[in-house]
This record gives sequence, C-alpha cells and structure tokens, in this order.
Amino acid sequence: MNDDIPVARRQSTSVEKAQGSAATLRLRLSLGLVVVGLVLLAGWGIDQLPGSQQVADPPVPEEAGQPPLAQSTEQDRRVSVLGHYAYAEAPPESLQVVGHYHGREVRLRQAAAESYLRMSAAAQADGIRLVPISGFRSIAEQEFLFFQVAQSRALRPEERAALSAPPGYSEHHTGYAIDIGDAQFPQWDTQEAFETTPAFRWLEKNAARFGFELSFPRGNPQGVSYEPWHWRFVGDRHSLETFYKR
Ligand code: DAL
Ligand code: ZN
Repeated sequence: MNDDIPVARRQSTSVEKAQGSAATLRLRLSLGLVVVGLVLLAGWGIDQLPGSQQVADPPVPEEAGQPPLAQSTEQDRRVSVLGHYAYAEAPPESLQVVGHYHGREVRLRQAAAESYLRMSAAAQADGIRLVPISGFRSIAEQEFLFFQVAQSRALRPEERAALSAPPGYSEHHTGYAIDIGDAQFPQWDTQEAFETTPAFRWLEKNAARFGFELSFPRGNPQGVSYEPWHWRFVGDRHSLETFYKR
C-alpha cells in the first residue's frame, strides 16, 4: 500500500485498481481470443473463409503424377477464329520456288525454301522422293478454298474449320508451311493415310534436323484435324516467332 496517498484518494485508488484489473482481464481475454482466432485461421487456410477470394495453388507435379505443362498456365492471347490463328501474308519477293504440283508453282519463304530443298535432297539420298504439294497461299486463294469447298460439301463453319483454315488464318499465308506427299503414293496426297508412307516415317525421324515440324499432330490443342502432310518451318527466329510468340 502507498501511504503517501490520502485515505479518500486511497479508497478511490482501490476502486480504480479493481476496475483496472477487470479491464486488464478483459484486455487479456480479448487478446487471447485474437490469438486463438489467428491460430485457427492459419490452420484452415484463409482462402477457405466464406466470401474471401479463392486462389487455388497450382498442383504439385509429384502429387498430380505428371510433369508440369508450361502452356497450361499461360493464356494464349493470339487472335484466332475457330482454333486457327491470324497470320500475315508473306511478301511476294520473300518467296522462292521449291517445285511444281500438277503444273502449279509451290513457293516458300527463302529460309524455309532453302531448308526444304536440303531436306528433299537428304530424303532422296535415302531413297525417298518428297513431293511439294502446296506452299504459300494468299488470303484470296484461301478464301476460295474455305468458302467454296465448304458450300459444295454443305459443311458448317466449325466442320470446315476442323479441316481447313479460314482466310487470314492459314499457316500457308506465312510462306513457312508446306504440304508434302510421297512420289510413290500419290493417292495419299493430303490424306490421313499419308502417315503410312515411307516419306512420312522419314519426315518424322528427320524433319527436325531441317527445322520442320508437324503443325497438327493428333489431339493438337487447336482442335484441327490430324494433318500428317502439313509441315511448318520453325528453323529461324522469324519463323519461330511467327508460330510461337504470345
Ligand atoms: N491446313 C492448315 C489447317 C492451315 O492451312 O493452316
Ligand atoms: Zn497445309
């Protein structure tokens, strides 16, 4: 007790003390509740609170049982129509003839053309004769192919788009895409059965060495039907960016 404090003051002081300890008790209780609350929140995970924004963690690869997919989290912002991406027409002066098909010239952009010709010579050395069927196509040519063929076969746009690109959206506009056949099996030109030919098997093994890849394998993410005959050049910076830049 503090004797320096007058009695009246002392009385009021003890009342104050009693009030003070009650307040301290309430404060301690409140603090205790806050701590318990925080512990519970940490245990449950904030994202499970009703009304809070749910942010799902990406699956841990080991848990998911599969390797992480780079493209699965990346949003594709390219302009597209029915699964086909928009492409600019290659300038005419950038094109070089790589062969003829039924009397028509087949042209590719210079880097792709040079690489295609090297690839064709390498195939020939292995006894395979590659046939260039169709290379660069203008938007006007694609317009005819897409709409006339669609109408003559009474196909709806989605059905047609699974088989061919709408004008402005064909890889052939770039001058980097080429349809390839096997000279020994002309009946399989631009047919799925092209995959049974020696030319296709040779391309599967060797095309990457010349910077070519299959654009539309089975189950491709664009939803375009399987085209074993349609290859694209991705062997230099411009061609790579044409097809892969997001
Ligand atoms: N033939 C493919 C779909 C294209 O023209 O891009
Ligand atoms: Zn094609």
